[in-house]
Amino acid sequence: MSGAAGPWWRVAPGATLGGEVAIPGDKSISHRAMLFGGIADGRTEVDGFLESEDCLATLNAMRAMGVTIERPAPQRVVVHGVGRDGLRAPAAPLDMGNAGTAMRLSMGLLAGQSFNATLVGDPSLSRRPMERAAKPLREMGARIETTDGRPPVRVYGGAELHGVDWDLAVPSAQVKSAILIAGLYADGETAVREHAVTRDHTERMLRAFGVDVQVREGRAALRGGQRLQGCRLTVPGDISSAAFFLVAGALAAREPLVIRNVGVNPTRTGVIDILRLMGADLRLVNERRAGDEPVADLEVRRSELRGVEVPRELVPLAIDEFPVLFVAAANARGRTVVTGAEELRVKESDRIAAMADGLRAIGVNAEPTLDGMVIEGGSCGGGRIDSRGDHRIAMAFAVAALRASAPIEILDVANVATSFPGFTTLAGRVGLGVEVHA
Ligand code: S3P
Repeated sequence: MSGAAGPWWRVAPGATLGGEVAIPGDKSISHRAMLFGGIADGRTEVDGFLESEDCLATLNAMRAMGVTIERPAPQRVVVHGVGRDGLRAPAAPLDMGNAGTAMRLSMGLLAGQSFNATLVGDPSLSRRPMERAAKPLREMGARIETTDGRPPVRVYGGAELHGVDWDLAVPSAQVKSAILIAGLYADGETAVREHAVTRDHTERMLRAFGVDVQVREGRAALRGGQRLQGCRLTVPGDISSAAFFLVAGALAAREPLVIRNVGVNPTRTGVIDILRLMGADLRLVNERRAGDEPVADLEVRRSELRGVEVPRELVPLAIDEFPVLFVAAANARGRTVVTGAEELRVKESDRIAAMADGLRAIGVNAEPTLDGMVIEGGSCGGGRIDSRGDHRIAMAFAVAALRASAPIEILDVANVATSFPGFTTLAGRVGLGVEVHA
């Protein structure tokens, strides 16, 4: 194909899946391991680290602030923490690439430092809202400037932070985490109240580092001044990456498809609940723990899916999985309605618009709404999709090809490396062949 921006994929229809796949490490947990390991006292050993562009942006930012980080083997990282007050001013702006988590959590970290720093990102991240994190941090006493609400973000050091009791207007684990991290540097207690459950990896991991974090009835709180102690962490596989294989298996697994070592933290398993509501044959086996996080193997078989009204309370628990859930809906019998998901409009792309346009391009009756989508399930045709440089849009449409009537070509796929390096290789191993074109 000519004229495509960067690499693109062609996925032929009709494949059947089966076998086993092990998913790379969780992105949210890998970011946090670098941030917390960096400000801990002593050494933190991390296994299962996600070596994706997003998490490497966080790793490099910590290095740029004086933390020694070794990578002795694949997925293994050793962080030599510099202690709570040991970070140094970076020589240049910290480049967070495509990673919203890296930027918003770093705002919380930088708010408590003695030096100034600037956070920048790629064109996608540079369009995303940062005031949602800046506002509560300013309330704590931080000095932060955004650029019309977006990156670049300038954080000034030397502020005296004080605790807040913040009511989260938007359900966001990134904002919750930024506040709690700043709270480590604040006087008194810092608390965040949430009205919808969001992922709790920060609360769990801070505890693993020895921080006393109190969580009760939707309120997470910690006292400032606590120190983190280096520890050993095992990062489970990312359920957000597993989601592509869950839907692929539900659509096309003739033999059982087993996805090994997936994090099943209850604040992340909305995708499992929603697929089960749709009639997916999906089992958790070998349930166990990896440190502070629950883990299981997921077993999925092909089944006839039906359209559902997705319960609103499940939306924050599956927020990153909607691109591929929309593909499941396109292949289900009947109508699927998603509401309360306006956050999808401010992810790596406007995922409501990107998915609705892409689904329509392959002949699906998909109606975008302000806060979700209405999809009449049925069959998909082939066609050409603009992923808008969004990793999850690209992978979702690779899955869509399984039941399409003609090949699907997906443009602008380089950013798959931000969350799921090796996706095409792993997909190929279980039967989903993706032709990669430079
Ligand atoms: C994340 C929180 C979510 C999620 C993102 C990772 C995190 O974002 O979409 O991929 O690691 O805390 P929001 O906090 O913006 O909902």
